Amino acid sequence: MKRVKFGKTNEEVSEMCLGTMMFGDRCDETESKNILSYALDFGVNFLDTAAMYCEGRTEEIIGRSIGGKRKEFFITTKVHKGLDEKSITGSIDESLKRLGTDYVDLYLIHWPKEKMNPEEIMRSLNKVVQSGKTRFVGCSNYPAWLLAYSNACAEGNDWAELVCNQIPYNLIERGVEVEVLPQAVAEKIVIAVYRPVVRGLLAGKYRPGEPPPEGSRADTKEMAIWLERYGESIERLLKFAKDKGVSPAQVAISWIRKSPAVTCPIVGVSSLEQFKISIKAFDFDLSNEEYTEVTKMFDTEVKEEAGGAYKDLRRNLFLLTGG
Ligand SMILES: NC(=O)c1ccc[n+]([C@@H]2O[C@H](COP(=O)([O-])OP(=O)(O)OC[C@H]3O[C@@H](n4cnc5c(N)ncnc54)[C@H](OP(=O)(O)O)[C@@H]3O)[C@@H](O)[C@H]2O)c1
Repeated sequence: MKRVKFGKTNEEVSEMCLGTMMFGDRCDETESKNILSYALDFGVNFLDTAAMYCEGRTEEIIGRSIGGKRKEFFITTKVHKGLDEKSITGSIDESLKRLGTDYVDLYLIHWPKEKMNPEEIMRSLNKVVQSGKTRFVGCSNYPAWLLAYSNACAEGNDWAELVCNQIPYNLIERGVEVEVLPQAVAEKIVIAVYRPVVRGLLAGKYRPGEPPPEGSRADTKEMAIWLERYGESIERLLKFAKDKGVSPAQVAISWIRKSPAVTCPIVGVSSLEQFKISIKAFDFDLSNEEYTEVTKMFDTEVKEEAGGAYKDLRRNLFLLTGG
């Protein structure tokens, strides 16, 4: 597994980040442990978790599974409760206890909230860094302006800055191309991408015209909308993958890897079998022609004002990097 530079820091992490949201949920403890052990054997050291996953059980499973191998992993967790100082400094203590460690590598604000106070948040995150309970801090689901504003606040006070933004990005959800990804390139922010296979949809788990099985992750309102809206596109993606002799998950994840703004896709799995399929995406590169072909299968590019006439000027990722 390739190592990639972790934004502005001097760290390197595996290009694949392992998403653990299903540990303790659709994936029992034994299977979770097997996945973690297999991941480490294949050089995957970057883990993503959160205090809220399974009400803390996911962190406990990770803690019990990695045992004495703590230092071999780069662990991310996220603030659980409110965004006031007490919640930010208290949530990390609870996470550390569950994870059975005295520090995490990256501590994220999980979601922005109405009436949040960016200055208080940055001051509180800085306290967590100062206490040695996290090495780096970041955010998740932040718009570009909020990340820039928060970091300006930190810089003015000599506090730790947000080094990472964790966001959803895939062939269907491309809103981040407008501001979040170009900002990441300009400011060397780590982009860790969640929902790379749209909860299984782009892995070929659910088919248009067939109702998703009850109790599956597809049993939601948004999945019904995606299936109806992008059914034909998904069929084209499945055929493309079949013709290439690879899995659709490989194509979907490789499409994300191709963006120069993306540091690491966060691959969520609920079995070792899925892990073994999805890790192959990191040995499979789409050519420029294949990337264009796959992109065109989905009519999901964000449409701008003036019918898209100025899109290259406003939001072309290559304004800074060149084509
Ligand atoms: N920061 C945030 O707000 C946020 C939000 C969501 C997720 N995340 C992180 O991102 C990770 C990934 O997100 P996600 O799980 O929502 O999305 P995802 O990775 O797009 O979807 C994962 C699901 O897709 C299915 N799948 C995966 N690989 C497959 C394969 N090879 N073949 C067939 N099906 C496959 C599995 O569904 P089944 O379990 O049904 O088999 C799996 O649970 C999470 O684990 C979490 O760490 C962060």
